[in-house]
Amino acid sequence: MRVLIPEDEISKRVELVAGQIARAYEGQPLTIVGVLTGCLVFLADLIRRLDLPLRIALVQASSYRGATTQGGELHIQDDLLPDLKGRHILLIDDILDTGRTMKHLVDHLRGLGTASVRTAVLLRKKGRQEVAIEPDFVGFEIPNEFVVGYGLDYDDEFRNLPFIGVLDRPA
Ligand code: IMP
Ligand code: MG
Repeated sequence: MRVLIPEDEISKRVELVAGQIARAYEGQPLTIVGVLTGCLVFLADLIRRLDLPLRIALVQASSYRGATTQGGELHIQDDLLPDLKGRHILLIDDILDTGRTMKHLVDHLRGLGTASVRTAVLLRKKGRQEVAIEPDFVGFEIPNEFVVGYGLDYDDEFRNLPFIGVLDRPA
């Protein structure tokens, strides 16, 4: 395991992004919608640095990608979402890779009668994006490597690492 972003650097950057978010939502009732499961660590650290009245909701998105199919179908599980009509939404995910997950979720949330939908990601992979979506808040731009830790997994493991790392063996 190689450390790509150490714990203290993540912490400083999350503090900075929280400041940007706080300024953007001053005086607006905010609902943060986290994308399970990868969002959890980022979400937990971020909300404790936001001095704003806010609500928290969760949604799950899973893609079925077979060995032969690229960019498979995305299934959105939104049973956990409260009524979001008229709410200002900040969608939070761990990483923007092709951008498909974020794009689908933004469209889905817009369809629920929300007042506005913006997006925040901890990581954005360079040179991987396939759909047009510009996240409003970005923690770090990273090279095209498979990363784990701080919520991100490989085969559902490594989410608990306090840093962002690159696995030695290819994913
Ligand atoms: P996208 O729809 O291609 O943007 O993919 C986003 C999702 O793929 C993220 O929510 C992650 O769950 C997963 N993902 C993409 N790249 C990585 C990575 O390097 N490590 C762990 N998960 C990743
Ligand atoms: Mg994910």
